Amino acid sequence: MQLRPLLLAAACAALAACNQGGGSENASAPAPSAPAAAVPKDPEAIKAALAALPAPYNAADLENGRKKFGLCRSCHTIEPGAPNMTGPNLHGVFGRNAASVEGYNYSDVLKASNIVWGPEPLDQWLAKPQEFLPGNKMTFLGVKDPKDRTDLIAYLMVESGYTGQ
Ligand code: HEC
Repeated sequence: MQLRPLLLAAACAALAACNQGGGSENASAPAPSAPAAAVPKDPEAIKAALAALPAPYNAADLENGRKKFGLCRSCHTIEPGAPNMTGPNLHGVFGRNAASVEGYNYSDVLKASNIVWGPEPLDQWLAKPQEFLPGNKMTFLGVKDPKDRTDLIAYLMVESGYTGQ
């Protein structure tokens, strides 16, 4: 709880994306609509958050997951309150209905999909987005290696405040 005020600053310090837009990190953050999930930032807290994930994510290679998220960064932010880009902000994506980030213009197929994002649908989406949901507008070929996807999903869980859904 006492970590709250440091979250944005820490996320921006740790992640290069905040520096891309030339000052967008100073945009006033909207009040979080969902309960703010604490993003662990010191090595101990990160380790504990990883260990608390369900298998097989608790045994994932977070560093590899972070690298794989480099494939997503051109289109997605993950920090709390960070802007939508080509794709929607991914903070808090777990347990959320697909196509529910406010102010983001989703495709009709994603809006009509009834997906609730959890590790499994996410794994299928990331393997082959266009096969999983034909006609969606994420122009991304997919992450082929299942281990890379596990590592990436674990990274998303830790960074986006996974709370067990
Ligand atoms: C070229 C840009 C691009 C890349 C690269 C990309 N995405 Fe996306 N992503 C999108 C777009 C656009 C959408 C919205 C799709 C729609 O509305 O049909 C989206 C949607 C999503 C959603 C659904 C979000 C929601 O609110 O329902 C998830 C989850 C997601 N992307 C994860 C990822 C991950 C993880 C990666 C990296 C492995 C990635 N994306 C790479 C553009 C991209």
